[in-house]
Amino acid sequence: MATPVILGIETSCDETAAALVDAERRILSAPLAGQEELHAAYGGVVPEIAARAHLLRLDRLIARALREAGLGLGDLAGVAATAGPGLIGGLIVGLVTAKTISLVHDLPLLAINHLEGHALTARLTDAIAFPYLLLLVSGGHCQLLIVEGVGRYRRLGTTIDDALGEAFDKVAKMLGLGFPGGPAVERAAQGGDPARFAFPRPLAGQSGCHFSFSGLKTAVRHAVLALGAAALEPRNRADLCASFQAAAAESVVDRTRRAIALFRERHPQGDTFVVAGGVAANTALRTALASLAAATGLRLIAPPLHLCGDNAAMIAWAGQERLALGLVDDLAAPARARWPLDPTAEPAIGAGVKA
Ligand code: KG4
Ligand code: ZN
Repeated sequence: MATPVILGIETSCDETAAALVDAERRILSAPLAGQEELHAAYGGVVPEIAARAHLLRLDRLIARALREAGLGLGDLAGVAATAGPGLIGGLIVGLVTAKTISLVHDLPLLAINHLEGHALTARLTDAIAFPYLLLLVSGGHCQLLIVEGVGRYRRLGTTIDDALGEAFDKVAKMLGLGFPGGPAVERAAQGGDPARFAFPRPLAGQSGCHFSFSGLKTAVRHAVLALGAAALEPRNRADLCASFQAAAAESVVDRTRRAIALFRERHPQGDTFVVAGGVAANTALRTALASLAAATGLRLIAPPLHLCGDNAAMIAWAGQERLALGLVDDLAAPARARWPLDPTAEPAIGAGVKA
């Protein structure tokens, strides 16, 4: 019997993506259309522009995914779409499309939490077992979670202000490096001196596993203002970016070290640490996390770059995991701008204030 294939749809932010993934972890097709050029002038994603672009592109992307895999909608075992968290207009476009296909072709619908997509990607790429520790670093999220099973997540820490990708994007904006900022800051940092600017390592040394990046971002802004027009000279820009990156990586390593201790307490046999999300593409961060994993005896899994950022293969795979467990949704499944993976986690606001 042929292995079941699921169509995944991702429209939660500024990537329109469709993918076909089978139950044996094969990605049959995964076309993706970015929207960078539509948002570049604004220095960030404009929700209405994003939603309209998803609407205009999604049907053709789905057709392309099917064509590339040589399949029709009738061959599918299910249809999965990101239902949240994210920008509500885009979520509605993707989810309503999935519901329509589900209804017309009588297919199981899987309304997927985008963060669960990121969280389960390492099982698609590396077939790892539960439990594992996950660091999710993207433009919208910065979280440390223990992944205990499908739908079973224990959040250890989150950001009390900006996500790390957001901080990269804002630093890029200050330095006229364009959008999205992460890759541009990384490129600009090459050859820069990471020790020239003594930027703060937010929350380093403090208890808990929360993150904070707004103070670091402000410190970069002060350095940029102090340099005036000279901040944009290549040497200064490289040093600013390298120093920012080093501070951010050190802060993440400090927080993650604490999370590893908590993971070990809860799961003494746990041996795997996964890093996912768009910022996981950053080499300085990956290198710092690889050293931490080696020092703490954990195996580090970082999915390939094209599966680190937003994509639909991770949504199709989360759909496979849920379908295998019978966790199917009905047509009433809502699109949700907010949707925490661990609903029992305390709000993080103010958590970083005390030691
Ligand atoms: O996971 P993702 O594609 O989208 C979501 O936010 O869900 O992550 C995008 C974020 C952006 O903020 C982008 O600037 C950042 O990931 N990013 C990077 C790098 N590549 C992407 N940040 C630092 N270094 C990179 N190489
Ligand atoms: Zn994402």
